[in-house]
Amino acid sequence: TFAAGIIGIGCYLPEKKLTNQDLEKMVDTSDAWITERTGIKTRHIAAPDQATSDLAYEASLQALADAKTKPEELDMIIVATETPDYKYPSTACLLQAKLGAKNAACFDLSAGCSGFVYALGIGSQSIVSGLYKKILLVGAETLSRIINWTDRNTCVLFGDGAGAAVLGRVDDGYGVLSLELGADGTGGEHLIQPAGGSRNPTTHETVDAYGQCVHMDGQDVFKFAARKMPAACKKVLQKAGMTIDDIALLVPHQANLRIIDNAIDRLKINRNRVWINIEKHGNMSAACVPVCLTEAQQAGRLKKGDNVIMVAFGAGLTWAGALLKW
Ligand code: ACO
Repeated sequence: TFAAGIIGIGCYLPEKKLTNQDLEKMVDTSDAWITERTGIKTRHIAAPDQATSDLAYEASLQALADAKTKPEELDMIIVATETPDYKYPSTACLLQAKLGAKNAACFDLSAGCSGFVYALGIGSQSIVSGLYKKILLVGAETLSRIINWTDRNTCVLFGDGAGAAVLGRVDDGYGVLSLELGADGTGGEHLIQPAGGSRNPTTHETVDAYGQCVHMDGQDVFKFAARKMPAACKKVLQKAGMTIDDIALLVPHQANLRIIDNAIDRLKINRNRVWINIEKHGNMSAACVPVCLTEAQQAGRLKKGDNVIMVAFGAGLTWAGALLKW
């Protein structure tokens, strides 16, 4: 018998960086406010000719090399994103074409910032069932394209980037040990791109009103996240029969340093066992978790046998946790 685990990872961050000092020149804000309230210092911004699939492609090449996997071996590609190149075709299909992964079934997954962990949940079950052997999971975003750069409440928070993982068969006892995926659709309006879909189609009026941009009730999302991140961690621990002391690394979604600190307090986990990169990258939505994983692996912080929790929350509202033995 076998289990489903991550056998390779990679990430890509666009070259251009936008600092808090740059933002001071764009909206009425300050480095001090952004640093104190969010923990963010800089974020990456995609070049004008880069779309989400381009970022996804670079991250995927790394993940495939790390997994010693050829594109043709992939049975499925799932791209978790809220900023696809197009509404359709899916970004997963565009990525398939770029990679030449001609044997892969492809779709995009919309679960906000929880998207990558949702994809891990769905993908791992497709491997455990025997349906597929190798699956490419991607979290990729170009949030800079849907931000209202005149709104200081949102424009300081987000960045562009991509992370990818190859899922495959691993020895029993390794890989995904427990999952906790959830949603509360009654909170959907707290984090929303209100126009451009069938409810409020693209018109001159909706564009002029920034309807195609991110709208967020920051405090409502904050309260939701403060509750759900620790709760999801506790659920995956309980399901795997472990305690927080068994965890070598916690990889939380990077939306606000205060949300991460709150989770650290509630879980009573040592801070040096939590991967935090929000200062450098801001909130890259579905890309945060796989970028963290890649950085942690490159820093030698993910060793075979380590128990790792990934946890995220986001638009929907959704939450997702996964516990893996690396
Ligand atoms: N610079 C200066 N002042 C600002 C800025 C800014 N960039 N942004 C807001 N302010 C002001 C507000 O206007 C407000 O002023 P007022 O009191 O005069 O009205 C004041 O700062 C305080 O605003 P709050 O909303 O109370 O600030 P808060 O401490 O809640 O921080 C923040 C706001 C950072 C947005 C926080 O609520 C947060 O991080 N929420 C969660 C966001 C999140 O997790 N989003 C997930 C997105 S995931 C996805 O799926 C894309």
